[in-house]
Amino acid sequence: MKALMQELKESALKAIPDADSLENLEALRIKYLGKKGELTAILKQMGKLSAEERPAMGQLANQLRAELESSIEESKKRLEAAALEAKLKLEAVDVTIPGDELKLGHKHPMYMALDEIKDIFVGMGFTVLDGPEVELATYNFDKLNAEEGHPSRDWSDTFYFDEDSRVMLRSQTSPMQVRAMETMKLPIRIVAPGRVYRKDEVDATHSPMFHQVEGMVIDKGVTMADLKGTLNLVMEQLFGKGTVTRFRPHHFPFTEPSCEMDVQCHKCGGKGCPTCKGEGWIEVLGAGMIHPKVLEMSGIDSEEYTGWAFGMGLERLAMRRFKISDLRLIFENDVRFLEQF
Ligand code: DAH
Repeated sequence: MKALMQELKESALKAIPDADSLENLEALRIKYLGKKGELTAILKQMGKLSAEERPAMGQLANQLRAELESSIEESKKRLEAAALEAKLKLEAVDVTIPGDELKLGHKHPMYMALDEIKDIFVGMGFTVLDGPEVELATYNFDKLNAEEGHPSRDWSDTFYFDEDSRVMLRSQTSPMQVRAMETMKLPIRIVAPGRVYRKDEVDATHSPMFHQVEGMVIDKGVTMADLKGTLNLVMEQLFGKGTVTRFRPHHFPFTEPSCEMDVQCHKCGGKGCPTCKGEGWIEVLGAGMIHPKVLEMSGIDSEEYTGWAFGMGLERLAMRRFKISDLRLIFENDVRFLEQF
């Protein structure tokens, strides 16, 4: 028996420190010290011993058990420490690695220009209005004095939804004039920015969708001088003091008299260059005194009230404001372009 125990001790004390995982160690514990383990098997032979031999053998067995248990305990500590070490390594955070860059966008240059325009008009007491892009021809044309047969109503210029040409994508923000006249109390001072749609081919200055800002004032005693004074002030605030403008006579069905306003070309300072197509001037808006018929159609007494209105192309204005030479850049949304503003 003694020899068996010695054998068991030797093999166990060799195997236990070699265990490479807690599971293996537990398997060894069961193998040597478990109920059906090797030590128990040896102890079962105690019955064969004489009464004198037993106590010494029992003591020997207890010693062996204690030795194996302490060896197992030692290995267990070693393996647990190693497991913790591995876990820490796995979960380690290297605080010196640069973090993921958080990319924040910023406002599109056209909306930057629009915000400036809105600020200027709000500062002068105007209200900002929003209106439908899917519009009735009644508002886009009829109530603006552009009767059936007017060239702008043509199918080749306008996106209609129905055969009868009654519902359309608005081709201008001017219908907002009518919507304001019909719903607001006089006097009225509004600006109405938004998208408009025309059947235009895309090139450096055209797009089938673009933005306009409509403006309108109706009050007693409003004159063309108010129109010119206000718009000149707006252009100076947008482009800086001393910005040169000019007004040219024009025709619009809903204003009389009508004009177009140009600002001197930012690229060449009026000498003429490709940006202004050699003109020295860039057209920024159409304007005029609201036609008495238009006022009357919306129930406003044209004897008592007068008004002026304008409609400007927002892209063109942003192009001048930020010195952008091609309209397509505004819509392509190439980050390398947008990042510059
Ligand atoms: N709606 C016109 C256009 O798209 C621009 C315009 C001209 C608007 C004169 C006005 C105006 O309010 O009075 O070409």
